[in-house]
Amino acid sequence: MHPRIEMFLRTIFGSHIISMGIIMLALIALTACSNASSKLPIFQATPAESPASTDIQTKAAQSDVTPAAGSIPDCTSPASLTPALTEGPYFTANLPERASLWEDGMAGTKLTLTGYVLTPDCQPIAQALLDFWQADANGQYDNRGYTLRGHQYTDENGRYELITVVPGEYPGRTEHIHFKAQAPGGPVLTSQLFFPGVQDNQEDRIFDPSLVIAITQDNGSSLQAIFNFIIQP
Ligand SMILES: [Fe+2]
Repeated sequence: MHPRIEMFLRTIFGSHIISMGIIMLALIALTACSNASSKLPIFQATPAESPASTDIQTKAAQSDVTPAAGSIPDCTSPASLTPALTEGPYFTANLPERASLWEDGMAGTKLTLTGYVLTPDCQPIAQALLDFWQADANGQYDNRGYTLRGHQYTDENGRYELITVVPGEYPGRTEHIHFKAQAPGGPVLTSQLFFPGVQDNQEDRIFDPSLVIAITQDNGSSLQAIFNFIIQP
């Protein structure tokens, strides 16, 4: 405190009161410091929020899973659900578990279809169930046995691989593969996949262009293609 001010105050109030005033000013200063200290956790909360940001980044990285075969999920959140289509008359329950429906000597063009089962948030769904059934290259279904019928589960990255044959057309229908997809404990999606560039696609009243697989390689006798399923978890 300035000596002149202190002298003035001492003249008016006496030295005892001035001493108490100085103590009170000191207490006010300490309280102010204490309040400033109590605000520190608020600023410290900023780094504490960073793990949440890391979580988001981790999830984004998870949506870019690249485990194998060079097929990266082509998914932008929020993604539209894969549309449902009619089951048709040829579904058979209790399909055998197998990723390859292709058999030695089978006529037709071999097809390797890969991709992911994803949520609308583009998160891979591990252990998602996929049922596939289809006609053979001549448009014939095996309704007695299990030829070209089978189910499989996605791996820990939500990825699947189906090895089969390009189905033939049958009266009234363009080329298509039937499927059911289900996340663990989730609803069942029943629908169909189609092929690009097939003339009869436009004549098929069930055809949906959003269900066309993407051909990535065509060797004449075999095709490689990609399709990602977007389903409710
Ligand atoms: Fe069919």
